[in-house]
Amino acid sequence: MTETTPAVDLDEAEAEVDLPEIGDRTRYDALMQVIRNRVTVRKFAPGFVVPEVHYDLILEAARHAPSGANAQPWQFVVVRDGEVKQKIADYFVAEQRFRAKAKMKFPTPDYRGLATAPGFIVVCSDMRWVNAFPVLRDGSDLDRMYRENAERILLQSVAAATMSAHLAAAALGYNVWWVTAIGQEQAQTDMRPLLGIPDEISVLDIFLFGPPAAKPYKRWRRPLEEIRHVDGYDPQFFMSDEELDDWIKTRRHRVMFKDASKID
Ligand SMILES: Cc1cc2nc3c(=O)[nH]c(=O)nc-3n(C[C@H](O)[C@H](O)[C@H](O)COP(=O)(O)O)c2cc1C
Repeated sequence: MTETTPAVDLDEAEAEVDLPEIGDRTRYDALMQVIRNRVTVRKFAPGFVVPEVHYDLILEAARHAPSGANAQPWQFVVVRDGEVKQKIADYFVAEQRFRAKAKMKFPTPDYRGLATAPGFIVVCSDMRWVNAFPVLRDGSDLDRMYRENAERILLQSVAAATMSAHLAAAALGYNVWWVTAIGQEQAQTDMRPLLGIPDEISVLDIFLFGPPAAKPYKRWRRPLEEIRHVDGYDPQFFMSDEELDDWIKTRRHRVMFKDASKID
């Protein structure tokens, strides 16, 4: 039998698991307090400097997120340089203008607030990590089918870590902003050199945080009864194509912002 050397020193792993008694509400209530108050703002108070330790506290939360195959396929680039922030903000503002011209009809927010976001973290992943998930690696149709799901596994993993980071920021008192609008390949190609990001690495989103410029507001949430299905999918919550289109046309802009005339 050949002996394998563990690539990871498992003795170093944080083995302690400390859960409360099942049903004890204390931690749940404290967690919900954070979850409910994690609120997006798109403009931050100018002049605030994020203490260095806060980046560590926030990314420590990201580090503990679950991931497919425990691959932890995420990297976070903390941006402190105001000029780099401004350049990245410029890409988003250009995107905002492009969308307006392309008549996408998406209520695109004002991305100028990116430039002055005190907390600025670029969330990256290496898509080659899909090979760590169940795939065949032979280019077959079956491989493609598994690869598609493997990509979802990767994206869900990074989203889990990102969400943990956002909640940690909210727990520290910050408002947050999750920006994905930069996913287009051209924007990534332009942005990578600003931060020395290798070509193989994808910029999946940007995480901004800081104190808000104006009083934040809580957005609409679908009631629990409309999302909970028990022992089977309740057909009353299935939307036809027409219903979905109608929702997008008449409601989307109202739930994304306080009201459509106040797009932030
Ligand atoms: C996956 C994901 C992508 C998002 N992308 C953007 C984005 O590109 N630009 C933006 O302004 N907000 C973006 N948001 C923020 C959402 O618009 C916001 O979370 C939503 O309107 C609910 O508001 P809340 O965060 O205050 O609860 C994104 C949020 C998520 C989770």
